[in-house]
Amino acid sequence: MELRVVDHPLVAHKLTLLRDRDTDSPTFRRLTEELVTLLAYEATREVRVEPSTVPTPVAAAPGVRLREPRPMVVPILRAGLGMLEGMSRLMPTAEVGFVGMVRNEETLQPVTYAERLPTDLSGRQCYVLDPMLATGGSLATAVRFLVDRGADHITCICLLAAPEGIDRMRELLAELEVPTTLVVAAVDERLNEQGFIVPGLGDAGDRLYGVA
Ligand code: PRP
Repeated sequence: MELRVVDHPLVAHKLTLLRDRDTDSPTFRRLTEELVTLLAYEATREVRVEPSTVPTPVAAAPGVRLREPRPMVVPILRAGLGMLEGMSRLMPTAEVGFVGMVRNEETLQPVTYAERLPTDLSGRQCYVLDPMLATGGSLATAVRFLVDRGADHITCICLLAAPEGIDRMRELLAELEVPTTLVVAAVDERLNEQGFIVPGLGDAGDRLYGVA
C-alpha cells in the first residue's frame, strides 16, 4: 500500500480548524468537504482517461475524458458521508456505492450493517472515503469487499490516520495484488486506549452529525 500525506499549507490550515473542539458542526461539515476536494486532487492522479477531441470555437482540440467503466466512490457510513459531496463535486460522473460500518466500542472490531455496491466491480477504480483511520479495521474490511468484487485499483482518502492503523492496513492487505493507495491530510502520533486518534479531532461522525 502506498501512503501519500498531502503536504500543503491550505490543507494544514483547514485541518487545524477542523481539529479545534470549538469548531461547530456546520463549519466542521464545510471544512470536511473543502479538505476532501483538496485531497481528491492528489488522490485522482491515476484516474483512467482516454483521448477525446472537442471543437473549440476556433479548431479541434485534443483532450481527454474519464474512461468507462466509470470510477466508483464509496463513502463508509456514517462519517464518510460527510466527504461525499466534496468528492462528487470534483468527479460528478462517478458512481456511488455505500458501505455502513460501526466499530464495536469494546473490541474495536468493525461491524458491517449495510452494503449497497454493484456485485461486479471488474475493472473499476474505487475511491473509499472515511475521515478517520484508527485501528484500520474498517477501512481494510471495506477494501476487501471491493477487491472481492473485482475492483482492480483502490484509493482510500482519509483526513487523519494513526500510525498503528496504517501498519495494520499494510498487514491485512499485504497479499492483495490490487494496487492500493492511502491519501491522508496528516498522520497523527498514536491511538489511545479507547482507540481514538491522538491528538486527532474527536469522533468525526458525532462532530458532523451531532448524535452518537
Ligand atoms: C469511525 C470512523 C471509521 C472508524 C475508524 O466510525 O469514521 O469508520 O471509526 O476506526 P478503525 O480504523 O479502528 O476501524 P464509527 O465506528 O465511529 O462510526 P460512524 O462513522 O457511524 O460515527
